[in-house]
Parts: sequence; structure tokens; C-alpha cells
Amino acid sequence: MASDLQEVKEAVRARTDLVELVGSYLALKRAGKNFTGLCPFHTDHKPSFHVSPSLQIYKCYACGEGGDVFRFVQKIENLEFVEALEFLARRAGITFERHALDTNARSNREQMREINRAALQFFKDRLAVSGDARDYLARRAVLRPTQDVWDIGYAPPEWDALCQLLQRRGHSLELAASLGLIKLRNGGDGYYDAYRNRIIFPIHDLSGQVAGFGGRALDPDQPAKYINSDNSPLFDKSSILYGLAFARKKFAEGVSPVLVEGYLDVVAAHQAGFTQCVASLGTSLTEQHARLLARYSTRALFCYDADNAGVKAALRGAEIWESMGLEGGEAQIVVLPRGEDPDSLLRNADASAFQKALDAAMGRVDYQLDRIQGAHDLNTAAGKEAALAESIPVLASIPLLSTRSRYADRLAALHPIAGRYGLERAIEQILADAETLARTRRPARPGQYGYAQVEAQNRQELQNQPPAQTFATQAPARTGPEKAEQQLLRALLSGDWRMRLLEQLTPAMMPTAEGTALLQCIARTPAQEDGSVLLQDLRLQVERFCRQDENEQTVEREKLEKISARMEELMQDSPYYVANEALTDTAVQDCIVRLNRYWAEQERLRLSELLNKTTDAEELRSLLQQYQLHMRALRGNN
Ligand code: UTP
Ligand code: MN
Repeated sequence: MASDLQEVKEAVRARTDLVELVGSYLALKRAGKNFTGLCPFHTDHKPSFHVSPSLQIYKCYACGEGGDVFRFVQKIENLEFVEALEFLARRAGITFERHALDTNARSNREQMREINRAALQFFKDRLAVSGDARDYLARRAVLRPTQDVWDIGYAPPEWDALCQLLQRRGHSLELAASLGLIKLRNGGDGYYDAYRNRIIFPIHDLSGQVAGFGGRALDPDQPAKYINSDNSPLFDKSSILYGLAFARKKFAEGVSPVLVEGYLDVVAAHQAGFTQCVASLGTSLTEQHARLLARYSTRALFCYDADNAGVKAALRGAEIWESMGLEGGEAQIVVLPRGEDPDSLLRNADASAFQKALDAAMGRVDYQLDRIQGAHDLNTAAGKEAALAESIPVLASIPLLSTRSRYADRLAALHPIAGRYGLERAIEQILADAETLARTRRPARPGQYGYAQVEAQNRQELQNQPPAQTFATQAPARTGPEKAEQQLLRALLSGDWRMRLLEQLTPAMMPTAEGTALLQCIARTPAQEDGSVLLQDLRLQVERFCRQDENEQTVEREKLEKISARMEELMQDSPYYVANEALTDTAVQDCIVRLNRYWAEQERLRLSELLNKTTDAEELRSLLQQYQLHMRALRGNN
């Protein structure tokens, strides 16, 4: 009974994060490895209250109060221990009935624990006497002390050795079957051992007790290389990490967790001193796994096998890690030499090779972009375009816009318009594409970004560049000068800016046809007392503008629709414009500079095109002169 209470206590502890719990009562701030806040247990004026996420304890350095999650709830909710336990169990979604603790009958859980302990001892005893299994482990370079620490065992080839042992000891075979240790024979007549001729890797929970078993086949012809325990009240694949009970200590020293794929990878890594390695078992990383690890670190390294499946799983894991939205949260990818996993690398090379790989871990985005660029021939236009198209979804997966622009800078040279229109224009286009994708394809849950579905669409968008100066039908992703135009038009509607801007702007300065039209309309719209323009007044002017002539009633429908659409767009907050924040002098001047630069670039293009075409020597000389003058003026302006 006592130990059952102990178990519930540990289960609750494992599912409760002290930082999150305390954070629901008072404001906490990160301070180095710990969190601090005002102590709720005395009148505190400066933050004396410290919470350690790695140790899961709190301490007030002013009043001396301190303890673990249970102590905290007892104090702050004024509860007895068992009440605090119930409180936290409820919070963690663990069903726990207090009266169950009072019965004398051993609970199923307790019996399951005993069965696991009996099985563990049985497997260990059999390893001690099996030459084959010992040889196998020696070949895999798992040393004797390592075997002892990890409780490694061996399930013999017999069909019912474990069944018989459990029966002799009076354990419930039904419960043993529910743990996946034994299986019901066809026809329901008796049981047989599930693990036969396998190396056994016991899986410890955070309390250090055995929760389940993984078994690796010794026979290479065996179809199932590994079998794992079934889920049970003691064992939940989606929240248990192999090696965590041992790795925890290293995390407390500030070392980030390294996720590896397999049992042997964990064992080999720990044996070589890399005790920060853990593995999820036969499943990819779940959000529960991630939350468990996030208690110790905001950074996680994914060190999966260097094959396609490994890469995919690592990226999926990284996205799950990032989707937790931890402050400063970061997922990194460790690239191993081709064909190696940590276990083979540590066996074939040495610890320094593994350390080197860990040191060279790359941010998830860098890794993906590198990989994409490596897969295409960047010396060809098609290769560049394909690489860029595949990179857009990667950019779109970055939530922070400032981070996104940093990467856009690096991709700009791949853009087909970069050569003709300059890197700046290419960057703007790339960011606009990424933003469009991020808005339209934001997945319902992480792990849904796929290249394939969006690739074609992106290619198409890129082929349509640069946009012709026509009336746009839908709100498209705006290029830099178009954004500047939009921002200025919006400013023109406000009392603060209208007069000043009307002096500086001319319709011809607007890069789009609708912009040109709208500027003319705004100039004709009578202003309110405060200098601002009402949308309804502007609408009238737009309508008038679209009549073929003053007296005629027929309106150029299409034109009106396009300008009106643009006008509506002006009124909405749009992710494409910088103008959602209050306009400043510098922002407005910056827009005008951009427009000037844009037209200068247009002029340069016009001249260079003429230069290309002209064969007449006289004309050529004059054009060249114009071109050089133009370029000199440009340099002077910039
Ligand atoms: P691997 O096939 O990479 O095996 O599976 P491994 O861990 O490198 O083992 P060795 O080196 O060949 O002995 C990686 C992990 O996936 C799970 C296991 O947890 C395994 O360690 N797995 C694999 C299964 O659960 N079932 C399987 O059939 C295979
Ligand atoms: Mn392996």
C-alpha cells in the first residue's frame, strides 16, 4: 500500500512542472538557470523566491520556505499531503482514488510492478549463463559494467521459460500478458513467452523502476528486430524516454538533451560519456516527450541515423520542439557521417568523432536550406529556381519575421529576378512569397509542412515575376515599391500627412496603375476639417474618375472594380505592409526614397535595353552617355 502511494506520488511528480505550477500563482522571470519571483509566503519586495526547473524545487532566500511540488501546493492551498496529492493528480489528469489506498488488496499496479521485477531478474539471470548473448554484447562493445548499470538481460529461446517462472511464483499471467511479456496461445489455452532469443533492454521510468522492456532479436532472420512492451498503466510509449532517468543528471549541469534513435545508441553513447542522450522508443518524438525534456533545456539536438527516414524523423521532431514556443527554444540537427548511427560511430571511430558531430550541430532551418541547395545544381537557372521553390516553405515555417528576413537575404541570389532587378527586390519577393504561404498554409498542427504540395504553386508564382504593371484583381503579395506606394496612399488619407505628401508626390511616381489613379482621386477629394479624407468621399471621386467622360453615365466597370478593391485593401491591416504601425517621418521619407530608386532602376533598365538593341553608332554613343549620366546620378543619390 505504502509503495502504491509512492507510485502515484512519482507519477504526479513526473507529470507536473513546478515552474508551470508556481507560474499559475505568481509571475516568474527567468534568471539564468532558475526562475525568480516575489515570494507568496511572506511580504516580499524584491524577488527572493527561486524555482529550479531542473531540480524541480523552490526556495525563498528571504523567509527560507522551500520544497518540491507537493510542499508548494500544501503551503499555498493549505492542504494535507494526501489532499495535495489528489489536487495535483487531478491537475495532471491522473485518476487516483484515495480510498483505493486504504484497501489491503494489492492493486493491479503493484502486482504489475512485481511481475516486471521478477521478469527483470529472470532476464538478467539468463544473460549471466548465455554464452551467445554475452558474445553478442561483446561484439556490440557493450561492456560488463554498462550491462549492469542498464540492467541488460537476455530472453532465452524457450517458449515458456518466463511463463513457468511467473506461474511458480503465483503471479497473475493475465496481468503479465497485459504488459506484453507473455501472450495467449491461439485457442486461448495457456500462454507463451513474447520475448524469445532476444537481448533485453529494460526501460526505467523517472523513479528508476522498470516500466517496460525492449527486446532485440539475436537472430538476424527474425522479422521483428525489436519488440517493445505494450502500453500499460506503468508504461506509456508516448511519454517515456529511454535513458532519461540517467540523462537527467547531465541536464541539471546545463547540457542539452540529444535525441538518438535506438536503444543501442543510448547505451553506447552513455558508455562513452555522452550521458545526455535519450531515445523515444519505436515512435517519433511526441509533444509529451518534448514537454518532459523542455523542463531541463530550451534546446534539443536531434541525432538520428544518416538516412532518409532519420532525416525525416529529425525534422519532425524539431518541428514538434519548436511548436512548443519556448522562449529561446531551439532545435538543432546533428549530422553524422553517411550510414552511421551513434552506436556504430562510437564503435568504428571514437568519442572525438561523435563530439565533433555534436559541436557541428546546425539550426533546423540552416540544415534544411543546406540540404535543399545540395540537392540541386545551382549553376543552372532551373536548379536555382527549384532550390528556391523548395526553400519557400522552410522560410514560411519560421514564425519570427526578423529571422525569416535573415534567411531571405541568403536565398536572394537564387531568385530569377535578382540579376536584373537587384537583390533587394528579390528579397522582398521571397519574403512576400513566404508570408503568403505561411498565411494560407499554416498547418492545423505541426508536422504538416510538405514541399511537394506547394512546390508547383511556388514555381508558378516565381515564373510570373516580375509582375507587369496592370490592374491587379486580388490583393497580391506586394513588392517593395508597391509596399511603399501602399504606405504613402494610406498616409494620404490621414489629416497629419495629406497636405505635406500632396506637395511631394506626383501620380507618375506611383508604381502601379491603381496607385496612380488613387493618388489623383485622393488629390481631388475634399478633405475634412482635420485634413483627413473620408472613404465615402473618396469613393465618389473614384467613380467619377472611372466615367469615360464627365457627362457620361457609363462607368468603366473593370477599372472601377480594380481601383475599389485596392482602396478596400488600403483600409485593411495587411501583413504585407509595414504601415500597420504609426507613420513616422523617417518611414514616409523612406517610402519616397524607395519609389525614386524604383524609377531610377526602371530608367536604367530601359536604357540598357535600348543599348542592347541599338546598332547605330551615333545613337549608341548618345545612349551610352545617357546611361552613364544616369548611373552617376544614381550613385550620387544613394
Ligand atoms: P534501428 O533499426 O535503427 O535499430 O531502430 P538500432 O537501434 O540501430 O539497433 P541495432 O544497432 O541494429 O541493433 C531504431 C529504434 O527503433 C525501434 C527501437 O527502439 C530501435 O532501437 N525499433 C526498431 C522498434 O521498436 N522496432 C523495430 O522493429 C525496429
Ligand atoms: Mn544501430
